[in-house]
Amino acid sequence: SLSAGEARFDAPPELIELAVKAMQGGKNLYTSTNGIPQIREAVAAFVQKKFGGTIDPGTNILMTVGGMEAIFLAARILLEKGDKVLLPDPGWGVMRTVAERQGALVESYPLEEKGGWVIDADAIVDRMDEKTKLVVVNSPSNPTGATLSKKGFSLLMQKAQEKGIFVLSDEVYHNYVYEGEHASALSCGSLDNLIFINSFSKTFAVTGWRLGYAIAHPWIIRQMGIFKESISLCSFSIGQWAMSEFLNKSDAYLNKAREFCRANMERMVARLSAIPGVRCTPPRGGFYVFADFSAIEPSSQNLFKRLLDAGVAVVPGVFFGSKGEGRARMMFACPGDHIDRCMDRIEETLASR
Ligand SMILES: Cc1ncc(COP(=O)(O)O)c(C=O)c1O
Repeated sequence: SLSAGEARFDAPPELIELAVKAMQGGKNLYTSTNGIPQIREAVAAFVQKKFGGTIDPGTNILMTVGGMEAIFLAARILLEKGDKVLLPDPGWGVMRTVAERQGALVESYPLEEKGGWVIDADAIVDRMDEKTKLVVVNSPSNPTGATLSKKGFSLLMQKAQEKGIFVLSDEVYHNYVYEGEHASALSCGSLDNLIFINSFSKTFAVTGWRLGYAIAHPWIIRQMGIFKESISLCSFSIGQWAMSEFLNKSDAYLNKAREFCRANMERMVARLSAIPGVRCTPPRGGFYVFADFSAIEPSSQNLFKRLLDAGVAVVPGVFFGSKGEGRARMMFACPGDHIDRCMDRIEETLASR
């Protein structure tokens, strides 16, 4: 399968040992809603070192049940009926669902493949109007791997601030950037109008731990916390304890994980590009390629069925919006021989009809 939205490599052994130690040491109870002070201090140190910004562990951080709970809570407190939200197309679908449930009006901004998948800040700014309450940016992006440059983030943050618009910056794939350095919204604006979303899921291959965090203005964090109290009360205690010891000595693991993914991304792009009729732009970041099969099969649902019949699961491009038609998302954060086996089958099945 190439359809999973998670890494198929191991979590850091030292982190797992710390989790066992925490569990055996009785750290199995509720924590405070915002998270134990130790994890918030570790997160503040990690984020400030990697991305910049000035973060107060006491008031700016909420530990959440994955990045997903953070996104849900942010949408829940910010959006009201009739508010406009700008979302990427192609883009990951969860924010759309939550925003629509809040009665918000969703408008897409396009991610462009030309020149290598990028997020164009001007395309977002051009769509801002007096109804716009929230802009969602996901860099590196699921499913395209598009990124927003530092210059782009600065422009976006400045224009959003001038117009009183919030920016939700979902940077859960921050470790997986294959061209240059990751640019973060945190170093390009103030926390007055930013909700920064991050997670340990993709960074440390612990999706099942359901542990992420939001960084925002104390007022936003307080409101999100009030809702969280009645939804989940707190986040995974053992993960918080283990991660608070591990996070700031994780660089060796993070570098290794990134280089593993880079090699497998290059492998997958090369294999797909060699298939007649398939176009595959190398992603700048993330876990996925978003390859174009439209010359062979214009319907991404039909393509999905054909590939599934050949024994390879992918995610149909339309799942990510109208601009995904004719495409498939394929995950490369897995061993190279698995990629090769899947590519052999895809090659065979597309050649046979
Ligand atoms: C773009 C993006 N944001 C956030 C998440 C949330 O991940 P988690 O809730 O596991 O942290 C995902 C998961 O697939 C994602 O792709």
